[in-house]
Order: sequence, then C-alpha cells, then structure tokens
Amino acid sequence: MSTPETVPVDPAFAARARLDADGAARLRERAARDPDGVWRELAGRLEWMRAPTEIRDVSFDRDDFRIRWYADGELNASVSCLDRHLDARGDRTALIVEPDDPAGEAQRISYRELHARVCRLGNALRNLGVRRGDRVTIYLPMTADAVVAMLACARIGAVHSVVFGGFAPQSIADRIADCRSKLVITADEGCRGGRRVPLKANVDAALKLAGTNSVETVLVVRHTGAGIDMQMPRDRWMHAVVDGQPDVCEPERMNAEDPLFILYTSGSTGKPKGVLHTTGGYLAWAAWTHEQVFDLREDDVYWCTADVGWITGHSYVVYGPLANGATQVVFEGVPNYPDVSRFWNVVDRHRVTIFYTAPTAIRALMREGEAPVKRASRASLRVLGSVGEPINPEAWRWYYEVVGDSRCPIVDTWWQTETGGILISPLPGAGPLKPGSATKPLPGIRAALVDAEGRAVEGEGEGNLVLLDSWPGQMRTVYGDHARFIETYFSTYPGMYFTGDGARRDADGDYWITGRVDDVLNISGHRIGTAEVESALVAHRDVAEAAVVGYPHDIKGQGLHAYVTLKAGVEPTDALRAELVQCVRSAIGAIATPDRIQWAPGLPKTRSGKIMRRILRKIAEGAADQLGDTSTLAEPAVVETLVADARAWS
Ligand code: WTA
Repeated sequence: MSTPETVPVDPAFAARARLDADGAARLRERAARDPDGVWRELAGRLEWMRAPTEIRDVSFDRDDFRIRWYADGELNASVSCLDRHLDARGDRTALIVEPDDPAGEAQRISYRELHARVCRLGNALRNLGVRRGDRVTIYLPMTADAVVAMLACARIGAVHSVVFGGFAPQSIADRIADCRSKLVITADEGCRGGRRVPLKANVDAALKLAGTNSVETVLVVRHTGAGIDMQMPRDRWMHAVVDGQPDVCEPERMNAEDPLFILYTSGSTGKPKGVLHTTGGYLAWAAWTHEQVFDLREDDVYWCTADVGWITGHSYVVYGPLANGATQVVFEGVPNYPDVSRFWNVVDRHRVTIFYTAPTAIRALMREGEAPVKRASRASLRVLGSVGEPINPEAWRWYYEVVGDSRCPIVDTWWQTETGGILISPLPGAGPLKPGSATKPLPGIRAALVDAEGRAVEGEGEGNLVLLDSWPGQMRTVYGDHARFIETYFSTYPGMYFTGDGARRDADGDYWITGRVDDVLNISGHRIGTAEVESALVAHRDVAEAAVVGYPHDIKGQGLHAYVTLKAGVEPTDALRAELVQCVRSAIGAIATPDRIQWAPGLPKTRSGKIMRRILRKIAEGAADQLGDTSTLAEPAVVETLVADARAWS
C-alpha cells in the first residue's frame, strides 16, 4: 500500500476529535473577528491568582516596540502545572520515568508526589538564598529531577536556564556567565545508551572557564552513584538539602510578564542568544497547543522524546503536558539502545497513545528496516508527531505506514525556540494531511511569505516565512540585550517577525517549510550557528580561517562541512583534522562535530572581503555546476581548487 499525496481525515477520528473541520473553521473565523475574545479564553485555562483584564498590547514597530500579554494577570506556573490537579487527580500518574537501562524499573510519579518534590526543592532553594528573579542553571539528565528542578524554580520565581546535557564545558560556561547564575543544579553523571556522561565534572570545568563568581552553590543529584569530586562548601548533595524540607511551599506571586525561563539558542551571528519567555502567555500557549495539536484526551499516555535541554522539552515535556494534567513518559535513553526496537518497546510497555519525535530519529530507524518496528505491537498509538526539522515525504510515509500502521495521523509541527510553542501544524481531526507539509497556521496565527524585499507573496508561491502579529507564546527579549532582539527578528522586514526559515505555500494554502535561509544549521534537529563552529576552529593555533556550511545528509538532515585554511607552512594531516574535530567537540559538544573538514588554500571572497557562503554551500552540496554569478569573486581560481578537492566527497 502506498500513501497518497493527501491523507484525508479519518471520519472516526474526526468524530471524537477536540476540533473537527467545522470546529477548526469556526475557531479561525472567531480568531479573525474577535481575537481578544479567543485570547482571553485561552488564558482562562490557567490557574490565576489574579485573572488578567488586559489581554494584549503589541507593536512590532521598532520605535514603539512592545509585546505584552495578560499584563495585569498574576499567577505561578507551578500552580497551574501541579497544585490545581491535586484535588481531582492528585493520584494520577504525571511521569512514567523510563531509565536508560532497559532492565531498570520504570518509576511512576503521581501529581501529588511531583508537587511534594517540587515544594521540597523550592524550600531548599529559598534556604540557599535563591530569590525571585535569580537565575538558576540546570544541567541534568532526562529524569524526573530535571522536571522537578524546573518547576521548583518556577515555584519561587527564579528563572531557569536549562543547558542540554550534551553541551561541553565551554558552552555551559558561556551560558552561566551570560545570565550570571546564582546556583547550578546537576547530577553526578547521566546515562545515555549505556554510556556515562560526566555531568558534574563538566560543571566543574565550566565554572573554571566561566570567569564569573556569580555561582554560590552547585546542587548535585546522586544519579549513578559514581565517585565525584565535591568542593565544599560550594557543592551540596541534593538529597541532603531537600531532606526534611516541608512538602508545601508558598508559590511566588508572579506577574504574567515576569520571566519564566531563559533558553540559549544559536543564531546566525555571535554567541548563542538567551531567549527569554515569560509566564502567562507562554504557559497558556504551551498548554493550549499541546491539547489541540495532539488532540489530548483523559486516557492518553503521551510521550515526547525530546530532551528538556531544548525548547521541545520545555513546552511539550514540562509545561504543556503538566498544565494539562497529562500522563507522560520521560525517557532518559536513546532510540538505539539496547537495540533499535527500544522506542517501540517503550510504547508497548507503557501503552503510549501519543508519540512525538524528530525526523532524524525516524530516518535513522527507517534505515534499520521494518522488522525492529514490527516486533512491537504499537496498538496503543493513535497520534504521531514530528518536530525540529523538515520531514521528507519518504520518512513521513514510513512513519505513517510502518510505525502507525496507516491509522495514526501525523502532526508535523513547525515552530522555534523563539515561538514558545507550535505555530504551524495540522489539527489531526480537522483537515487532510500531506506528507512533508506542516499544513496550516493554527487558528489566530498570522503567517505570511515575503520576498527578499519584504513584499507579500500571495497565494501559491515561495518566500521567507514571517509572522505578521504576535501570539501569547512569543519570546519577549534576548536576555540582557533587547536591542539584539529587535535587530535579529524585526529589522529584516520592518513590522514583521522574521523566522529565518524559507517556505513554499501550495494552492491549498498549505505550508512546506524548506529550511533555514540564514547561517543557522539544523543538524539532527539541533540548531548550530556556523559562527560558533567557525570560532571554535579558528581558536586552533594552526588555523588561519574557517567557513562552515551545511549540506544534505541522509540521516541528520544536514551535515556540517567545514572549509579550513591553515596558516602558512602548516602541513594538512589527518592528525590535524582529528585535532580540529576535537576542538569543536570540546568547545561546543558532540552535536556540532564536523562531518567533513576540507583543506582550503583560500576561501572565495568578494572584493570587499566577504566570504561567499552561497558558493561554499553549492560546492559542499556537490552542485558545483550551479554556482551562479561568480563575477564578484576576488580570486576565481580559489573556487576551482575547492571544487576539484570536494569531488572526494560526492
Ligand atoms: C526547524 C525546535 C520544518 C526550522 C522546535 C526552525 C522545522 C528551527 C520544523 C527551530 C518542522 C522546526 N518542519 N522545519 N516541523 N520544526 N523546524 O529553535 O528551521 O530548536 O526555524 O525549535 O527548526 O529550531 P528550534
């Protein structure tokens, strides 16, 4: 059986769905006619200490810039995620924690127990001097501790900054220094695919590199029990500080526009930006989208495979699902350990109904064939989701036919760290699906395409993806650099939020995201700034210059191709190549490992000295016959050498 170009909504699914075609159409119509009414209703799903009367106050105009939602409302995110469930559903399982080790027992944590753990840690943090507005860096494995740590920060009004456990000490150091964290929460070690990750040792190294004395305390979770170096009085065991704390903790009364968290993400220039999200709008958007896009129901067991170190883990592991009182799987491991049936075994073991993962994982598993999938029943599944990068139609079909047995709708969800939650996605009961298309903006979302000059592309066509108006989950600023926020997102096309993505819109009005149009790479669904990798490379004493571009990669979506010019007299050797790879891994982390390093006698530049990345991209893609206009090249011969040398890869 082959999947057609358009997969109609299953009438049985639509009949039970939260939003069917009519419902979605009515909501779209209302959102256009009475947006404030719809946005007010959206806020109504949260537990407010003071309900907002002001709904939205937005201007994308540079001279009069503001993004404020529910600005006179007061709430605490942890109350919406925990306390309000206690009466009616306190004993319901919030988290099913599946450890890396498949022989290990999954731990079930009820809402009541999660609440108590969050309260104990909230009290402990207050005792350690953490106050409202202070920043706390979290560098933990994908376990319940990470969820507890985030919510405990929210409880006391501290701003968490979660750093993905795969980042290297230098990256942790930069993130700690940028927001001047007062406290770091980590674990002795993490476990991934049977291997240990030295989290505490990485934090120690980071604090030496950070060049700040802001960090007063490092809280350490005992996870694997490995022997680690504890530096007293700075380092404290988590169990020791929470032990004996009361399991109630007065939640801080936060304004809707008070910061909830900072999450660093890569842009096209400079160091990663601290994307700042606030409390009310973010939480409302995460919760509403989680419920509608996944068609969440009372009896669902939801599983999002993302790590809490990324925005997907923030919005669709922690805040959205918990605000909705969902039961979900939290998985510490990886898809191919102990073997490539792991995902599907976990699905069967916990009877997962909604499964949300990244195309890169699907492509990697697809390569292993159908047998490892078919060994598991997967009968519990009813909705599948995709996030993080474009899903190619081939992978979409495999996900649909093989994983979902052609009976589960796939929601291909487009969004970004900056958007806080999903903006473009099918609603699974409301409209047909198209393999490879994220379909339509959600109700209330005003997406558009513009050409290079910012002129609207109407109807069918291709262009840069922008948003013409705000939504509650939009980021509010770059931490510590509001000018950079406006410059990065609102200056390319004045009056519009520019996503950095390109897209095509078909005759049905469905969007097909084509990928980044800026210097951001998307490697296995992870955002990597070319500038960050380049600066890691040029930090090596033998490197004169480096330029990094992406090229299509079967599994990772994009691979990382680095052109490196060595200093005069330096011999290009395999040993040096390995050293450079190591430089990047230890500056950023394994996720940024270059796939290829090409020695470049010179880089193609314009006469004014600007590197012509467009040309480097074409060469890396193996499309040297499509270099386009090369008349502005300062030294055309450079390109010929690069093209000849690059043949080795194609
Ligand atoms: C890409 C991840 C196509 C896009 C939530 C975006 C996607 C970047 C999709 C944000 C999708 C995310 N289809 N591309 N469904 N989802 N992207 O900040 O290029 O880690 O700009 O947020 O991922 O990555 P981020």
